[in-house]
Amino acid sequence: MRPRAVLIGAPGSGKSTIGVALAEALGVPFRDTDADIVEVAGKPVGEIFVDDGEARFRELERAAVRAALDEHAGVLALGGGAPLAPETQEALAGHRVVYLEVSLEEAVKRVGLASARPLLVFNPRSQLRKLMAERLPVYERLAEITAVTTGRTEEEVVAELVAALEGRP
Ligand SMILES: Nc1ncnc2c1ncn2[C@@H]1O[C@H](COP(=O)(O)OP(=O)(O)OP(=O)(O)O)[C@@H](O)[C@H]1O
Ligand SMILES: [Mg+2]
Repeated sequence: MRPRAVLIGAPGSGKSTIGVALAEALGVPFRDTDADIVEVAGKPVGEIFVDDGEARFRELERAAVRAALDEHAGVLALGGGAPLAPETQEALAGHRVVYLEVSLEEAVKRVGLASARPLLVFNPRSQLRKLMAERLPVYERLAEITAVTTGRTEEEVVAELVAALEGRP
């Protein structure tokens, strides 16, 4: 069993939001590896970072991605940092990887101030800029399909992805 689409992208790119809508449009279930990690750990992502450290979170994340790629036949959203792990990059080979592209300015707006994202608690704008500089080349390299989300509605993005995944121009 393999996912219909695996969504990657920066925080605020829409992996969760677009993921749910895309799954609904395709009539398949949605799964989010961040939610899987929370379930396994029994606490929110922020608490895992504080109690156990980022290294432990990344370990749980690699395991969650591996399991989900094997088990899930619907739309799968990965955590924003997940594609940085070499093991995950290998595991993604041959999967339909969809990169949701967002500009820094738009990501800052979407993530907002009330951020539950542990890496963005302090000075979200400069943290996001650093994260995106590091990650964007990786997202681009792994992607089979890239969808621009900045300046577009969720509905437009979903329609484009349905067409791309079903092989229509
Ligand atoms: N065109 C668009 N595409 C995607 N999201 C959009 C768009 N326009 C507005 N949004 C909003 O941007 C936010 C995207 O947040 P979302 O939680 O889906 O991102 P994420 O990639 O899952 O982030 P994280 O890595 O932190 O889990 C949502 O509030 C969504 O409604
Ligand atoms: Mg998300």
